[in-house]
Amino acid sequence: MKIVVGNRKLGILLSGRGSNFAAIADRIAAGALDAEIALVISDQESAAGLAEARRRGLETAFVPAAGRSRESFDRETVERLRQRGVSLVCLAGFMRILGPFFVRAFPNAILNIHPSLLPAFPGLDAQKQALDHGVRFGGCTVHFVDESLDGGPIVSQAVVPVLDGDSVDDLSARILAAEHRIYSEAIGLVLDRRCEIDGRRVAVTNE
Ligand code: GAR
Repeated sequence: MKIVVGNRKLGILLSGRGSNFAAIADRIAAGALDAEIALVISDQESAAGLAEARRRGLETAFVPAAGRSRESFDRETVERLRQRGVSLVCLAGFMRILGPFFVRAFPNAILNIHPSLLPAFPGLDAQKQALDHGVRFGGCTVHFVDESLDGGPIVSQAVVPVLDGDSVDDLSARILAAEHRIYSEAIGLVLDRRCEIDGRRVAVTNE
């Protein structure tokens, strides 16, 4: 099934620092990614990424998550994304699990970046999990979001070595540099309608 997004408007969801968001915005500003960031949403009012989005003059929203159901949070977020005409939702360090309501509202139109070579080390602290396991290579994954945890079809991955003596910070920084590169590339592939999903596999076509 070819993935066809309706327009090139992105909605970014983030919870923290926002370096992946900033990398995407930089690529757009440089003319290397043909897209528009229509809205940046955070579940954390004090997220540095939200402040950075405001500084860049982008539309932002804080959607509080405390004291409400997952579906209530998801409904408000979906509503805001729809109001801004978003076609592709990009999770960029967004630390909440999206429920079925959200995933069904944007079928095959939500991407996530995860700091491991999935299916290894899903969930939290993926870089620490990799170090603790003793793997020699780590990396990052951009995947479509479905109702599983970090389990949707994989668009793109990058591999980085794990070096002797690496701390979690060392490995995280090496992975993050790769994240900044592959996330924009994967977004471009989806927006250019070059992704076809067949079961778990994503084929990238030339046109
Ligand atoms: C990134 O390493 C991203 O892969 C990870 O959080 C970091 C966010 O950094 N995401 C997850 O672990 C999702 N499960 P950033 O806020 O600087 O983009």
